[in-house]
Amino acid sequence: MLSPQSQLLERNLELFDTGNWLFINPSDAYFADLLDNKPATFLHQYFDIFAESVRVIPSCEFDSRDVSQREHGFCIEQKASGHMHWFSPFIPAEKTFSDILIFMPKSKPHTQMLLAMAHSALSEGGRIHIVGENKGGIKSVAKLTDKIGPNQKIDSARHCSLVTVMPETTGPAFSPADWLTESEYEVDELTWEVVSLPGVFSHGELDEGTRMLLKKGSDRLRGRVLDFACGAGVIGAYLLKRFPHLDMQLLDVSALAIYCAARTLNANQQSACLLAANGLHGIERNFSHIVTNPPFHTGVKTDYTITRRFIEDSKQRLASGGTLQMVANRFLPYPGLLGDVFPQTHTVAQDTRFSLYMSTTG
Ligand SMILES: C[S@@+](CC[C@H](N)C(=O)[O-])C[C@H]1O[C@@H](n2cnc3c(N)ncnc32)[C@H](O)[C@@H]1O
Repeated sequence: MLSPQSQLLERNLELFDTGNWLFINPSDAYFADLLDNKPATFLHQYFDIFAESVRVIPSCEFDSRDVSQREHGFCIEQKASGHMHWFSPFIPAEKTFSDILIFMPKSKPHTQMLLAMAHSALSEGGRIHIVGENKGGIKSVAKLTDKIGPNQKIDSARHCSLVTVMPETTGPAFSPADWLTESEYEVDELTWEVVSLPGVFSHGELDEGTRMLLKKGSDRLRGRVLDFACGAGVIGAYLLKRFPHLDMQLLDVSALAIYCAARTLNANQQSACLLAANGLHGIERNFSHIVTNPPFHTGVKTDYTITRRFIEDSKQRLASGGTLQMVANRFLPYPGLLGDVFPQTHTVAQDTRFSLYMSTTG
């Protein structure tokens, strides 16, 4: 189904008749179909929409050393219906476009980084366009773009707006290094480095749920361990520091997260296998343990289909005697969901906000 942002763009399709267009982070995989034979390139920072757009790749594997040693990380390229799709944290260097349309992300620093990236990749006289939901802050986009150039509202409908910015000069070269933050975290006297970027979970600070997981989680880990939904690689790097013998693997849907996780491992003189995937979809290997601060349900929602699916898939992927350790907001009904799937689940730790659960395959 077309997202509200794509429905607004559908009313303005003539905009895309001319020019060399790049679309960043489309909010659904169906918008590309509206462009028919028009040439277009898509930069996806999220693997779920990328995989749905190209309809072939269920997951992708990287070596953290390859990713951390290249400034722009990685770029998986795939053609589909005459369009080029990239799964990458950044616009590949040297590529330029006459028009770049950003689907506005939730976080303001992430929007600012995408604007800087887009500005640097415009050919002379090029334009930046931003589409976003009114509740997502599109109305205040002028404040973020006033240093780039004047802007004009093109259309608004479906609780969304489309704004065009006309840059007055070409943008400075975009360097990921200008946006990276390196922090030292400490848990029970063990310190480690974490490298992060805008748009990555808990950018620049250790999440309190994650802290509980690291402090109270099991120290009886062995074999292949998955840091599911790894973000900047906080959990994976900490576990490798404590238990260097582990075969650690880190998975996330976000290219920015995978890029940061590779940098985090490198900053701690570690290396590991990184996986881009949507949940555990397309992951066929087994793990001795899965450790996670999962993405699902930070708000008050009542649909637990995705979480249930993840818990069921975890059980499938765990070797006999394996464990799933999961920290979550305390109010979420996870003990019931875990108990429906695993023969044994217990609460390892709890405070006013978070609970840490451990499930065993038996
Ligand atoms: C709560 S954060 C945890 C990050 C990190 N483990 C930490 O503790 O700081 C959840 C992570 O889940 C990722 N994520 C969201 N949806 C996902 C999906 N469908 N599959 C895999 N990862 C996903 C997000 O990109 C985010 O990095």
